[in-house]
Amino acid sequence: MAIEDLIIDNREDGLFRVNRQAFTDENILNEERDKIFNSCWLYAGHESEFNEENTFVSRKVGGRPIILTRAEDNQIRAFFNACSHRGNTVCREKSGKTKAFRCFYHSWSFNIKGALVGLPGPDAYSPNWNREEMGLPKVPRVESYRGLVFVCYDENVMPLTEYLGRSREYIDLMLDYSDAESEIAQGEQNYSMRANWKLLVENSFDSYHGVPTHGRYFGKFLNDIKLGNGSWSDVSDGDSLGGKGIALDNGHALTENPARPTPLQIKSADELAAIKAKLTEKFGEERAQRITGFNRNIFIFPNTFLIAYWRTVRTFYPVQPDYMEINAWCLVPKSDSEELRQSRLENFISFLGPAGFGTPDDVAALEGCQRGFSATSHPQGWSDISRGMGKEVADSTDERQMRTFWRQWKTIMSQRDNASEGQ
Ligand code: FES
Ligand code: FE
Repeated sequence: MAIEDLIIDNREDGLFRVNRQAFTDENILNEERDKIFNSCWLYAGHESEFNEENTFVSRKVGGRPIILTRAEDNQIRAFFNACSHRGNTVCREKSGKTKAFRCFYHSWSFNIKGALVGLPGPDAYSPNWNREEMGLPKVPRVESYRGLVFVCYDENVMPLTEYLGRSREYIDLMLDYSDAESEIAQGEQNYSMRANWKLLVENSFDSYHGVPTHGRYFGKFLNDIKLGNGSWSDVSDGDSLGGKGIALDNGHALTENPARPTPLQIKSADELAAIKAKLTEKFGEERAQRITGFNRNIFIFPNTFLIAYWRTVRTFYPVQPDYMEINAWCLVPKSDSEELRQSRLENFISFLGPAGFGTPDDVAALEGCQRGFSATSHPQGWSDISRGMGKEVADSTDERQMRTFWRQWKTIMSQRDNASEGQ
């Protein structure tokens, strides 16, 4: 099937369907790598993870190993973690402080700005061999927004702030929920799922699934700890949560739900009230309420979520059509007390953690979908994403936010490459 035909977007009848070939086809994944992951801005890390001079982090972003560095000039640089000599992984540590990376294969050394600064026996090279050309290969673009560092493998991409577009308004609301900067708490979550990556896009801001899928947490656990009126225990499957699904530009979107009593809010009620009072002083009543009164799951196209209540940054990348790797970090305000930080970390681990109340349920659901896709192949069958279509204001339990993703996916994936144009 042609990419254009994989999505039925019938606004007149309020029908939106995605053909399941989009989740199973190896050729589609190859095109996604090329058109999406090699062309869009991708979240790579947070400035707080390498905030001193001569520090670095190394990780895979969009499937490619890279190194993010900060030299004594305070500039953030990004390199591919591949030796310019014969390609070996130069940096094998996840993070640290160093003045140089030494490749263990033939001992070429690169400084933190990427220049080749040493190699054994340089005299054996001809006069035409130019050391200046042999630095670590640079990632074409690296830019940050309020500490969030993004990279892009396409030199010609628009500036990051323009790409983030209207999502910046919501990122600001999340990051302003603190009277100081935020930092990544030590440690990260790395796990995988036997499911297509786009299922996790849908799932990460699917308010419709929350109560039915996570009944153990919302219906039982929160009830058992007696969170009281207004908590989740009085919400049933399919109920509106009183929130919205919001479409933004460039494929970004979010769900926004009014905050409800949670373990964190009960445990740290006084400190959170004090933070809100400070925010009211700083921003005024209305903005302070916008900052503190909602839980938001903010999606940055193509593969990043900022999940405000859990202070989670989540990214994922497809290794195969039916297999993805997921990374998550906890972004905490620097000014929190030890106690509040501890509660936030417990919160981060206990719901969205790979062994928490939430994630194992989601893994079971998404892997179940992927297995179901093979049952309905040839013809592959269609997934329905029509909920709330045609409404002026979409509820958060509707699926407008997902349609926003899919429309951008279709726009990008339908672009012909230059070579095939005119044929
Ligand atoms: Fe790195 Fe040879 S591959 S020094
Ligand atoms: Fe879930």
